[in-house]
Amino acid sequence: MIDLHSHILPGVDDGSEDMEMSIDMARIYLENGYRTVIATPHYIDEGISFKRDKVKDVLEDFRRELDKQGIGLEVLLAHEVYSSIDIVKDIKEGNISTLNNTRYVLVEFPMFDLPLYTENMIYELLLEGYVPLIAHPERNARIIDNPNILYNLILKGALVQMNLPSLEGRYGGGIQTTAEILLKHHMVHFLGTDAHSNGTRSPRVDKALSILKSIISEEEYNRLIYVNPRLLLEDKLIKMRLPIEYKAKKHNSCPKKLLRKIINNIF
Ligand SMILES: [Fe+2]
Repeated sequence: MIDLHSHILPGVDDGSEDMEMSIDMARIYLENGYRTVIATPHYIDEGISFKRDKVKDVLEDFRRELDKQGIGLEVLLAHEVYSSIDIVKDIKEGNISTLNNTRYVLVEFPMFDLPLYTENMIYELLLEGYVPLIAHPERNARIIDNPNILYNLILKGALVQMNLPSLEGRYGGGIQTTAEILLKHHMVHFLGTDAHSNGTRSPRVDKALSILKSIISEEEYNRLIYVNPRLLLEDKLIKMRLPIEYKAKKHNSCPKKLLRKIINNIF
């Protein structure tokens, strides 16, 4: 398997604290069936984040250590980029890395809101030949409230990466429910661990994968877990199914209907 979203590199963001933890995470990845991991340290802005060259140096050190310890995990370069109107500029200036130098860019939204320029950001990336991959939208408060915000962004050309731990309820029930809704409405194209440590946010996925199997077909499972990540690594386009618009379940809030229902239940 291939993980497209990981904070496995030591000391570059809020992920792995040091080399020892990174090596431990690598071992957990192998135990869980992963052979390739794309390292995606956060890029928020140039003042506080590690730029491409610096991340590359850390990656080289990590690869050397993996080699020394005989751990056969392939680790590739990228960033998880916080929403910004400067993403294209930052790619062109070499500040940030796309996913393994492909056309795909992992973009993170704020937790509680969506920037007003979101559609423009997607449009600009597509215009320049990049494909925005929205990281864990099931964790965004606006999308939890209305999954069709994501439906519209997919129609505008964005793709979606969902976090496997969301399916286990590791971030809470609302996020878990949204994750299931997105899967059932064909609004997920890739999965990732978003692993940050060897502890509570480790890359252990056995429970999440069995939940995933109970929600989607075997064909879709293979597409999300094996086919799409491979196509991404080869910088090819994925075959995507049209998303299905979400229709919220209607509550019986009409007072007359509610009263009739109560009366019918009594008599
Ligand atoms: Fe992340």
